[in-house]
Amino acid sequence: MTDPPSALHSDAIVFFGATGDLARKQIFPALSGLVQEQDLAVPIIGVAKEGWTVEQLKAHAADSLKAHGISPDAAAVRRMLELLRYVGGDYNDQATFCALRRELGAAEHPLHYLAIPPSLFPTVAARLAESHCADGARLVIEKPFGRDGASADALEALLLRHFPEQAIFRIDHYLGKEPVRNILYSRFANPVFEPIWNRTFVQSIQITMAEEFGVEGRGSFYDGTGAIRDVLQNHLLQVLAVLTMDPPTGEEHEAVRDQRANLLKAARPLDPAHVVRGQYEGYHAVAGVRAGSTVETFVAARLEIENWRWAGVPIYMRSGKRLPLTASEVVVIFRRPPRETFGEIVPAGSSHVRFTISPDVSVGLGLRVKLPGERMQGRDRELILAREPGADRPPYQRLLGDAVRGMAELFTRSDLVAAQWRIVDPVLGDVCPLYPYPPGTWGPAEADEMIGQDRPWRDPRPGGQAPEVRD
Ligand code: BG6
Repeated sequence: MTDPPSALHSDAIVFFGATGDLARKQIFPALSGLVQEQDLAVPIIGVAKEGWTVEQLKAHAADSLKAHGISPDAAAVRRMLELLRYVGGDYNDQATFCALRRELGAAEHPLHYLAIPPSLFPTVAARLAESHCADGARLVIEKPFGRDGASADALEALLLRHFPEQAIFRIDHYLGKEPVRNILYSRFANPVFEPIWNRTFVQSIQITMAEEFGVEGRGSFYDGTGAIRDVLQNHLLQVLAVLTMDPPTGEEHEAVRDQRANLLKAARPLDPAHVVRGQYEGYHAVAGVRAGSTVETFVAARLEIENWRWAGVPIYMRSGKRLPLTASEVVVIFRRPPRETFGEIVPAGSSHVRFTISPDVSVGLGLRVKLPGERMQGRDRELILAREPGADRPPYQRLLGDAVRGMAELFTRSDLVAAQWRIVDPVLGDVCPLYPYPPGTWGPAEADEMIGQDRPWRDPRPGGQAPEVRD
């Protein structure tokens, strides 16, 4: 998609939470990448509560880059550090925002990135407006967008008082990931997929996002969130939308977001009978987790989409912490013919397309291949198209760069956020029972019962489920 006709380049970047975790882990590397690859040359103003000097912020940024293996002596990094400014002060104090307005100088279209807890979004948005820092500006915010449908609507209403919808850029970093863009590209650049991408040919879909690590270091955040709000409501549903949406039509820059939104609006709200929540054993020992917490660290769900393309096709999604490995993938499993021509007993899921999201980017095509010999007998093989690693632009760099240029396609939108909450609202909290699972396993056995024996969960481990399928 091309830039929307009205897209102005932001002439300053302001990031709130400059001394925080997100800045250190994602924003400094993204900014240095933008300076290096896209010649970003606008003032970059960090804002935080701490009474730091700009020199302290520069040293902090240099440390963060070093931790990412980026040398602070590289020319681009030196240029980035020169662009840095710092404003310290309380977010409730209008003086902080007057100082920011002064620091913005002649900038007329700043981009304000709120890398701060969502509870502060309304205050900061209001102060930005009062101090005229919001005039002609863009606002970039991070999930979570509310805790449920009602609170998301309330947040939306507060933000819309100060920023128009087209100026709000909501980050779901999965949409900025190269492998997720690869799904969209593969689907619509290869005419072979579209005719079979529907209920007539597809038996079921599985989406797995597995993480080997636990929630150490972020226990208190996680314990107020849980897997449904943390990843199912956003990352998994966005991946699902990219995988199952209709082809975008027309040249409008909103075409892709419109189709993602249409898809999510057609999904049925989750039925508690088809959701399994799990918690890994030992979760309560993590610092910040409340005693007796019933927050889930694992979720598996069956979802249905009520449109002509997908009605009746079960969609299984699961995600969890402390699973056997870190890997994400999407598998579209095709229906077998009504009768196996060669009388074989063919394993479930033997005919499929698989998109790997991590650890590598690949597309796999599952086929039956004849074994040499007299008998008409075969085995499952997978044709794998792998991409060369190393060329990926990190999602935060891509997203921040797009926001600076006013390109909204890879961001989520208020109607998408509302549609996502409508799907998960019925299963938030303790509506579904919670089952314990030992760390290093694939979650509670109830998740296997939910999906059934005739189409078990695929193991995304390389060689895990069917070692012979990888050549
Ligand atoms: C975040 C969640 O949004 O996404 C984390 O809060 C999760 O819990 C992370 O680990 C996964 O992102 P990625 O890019 O590492 O797959």
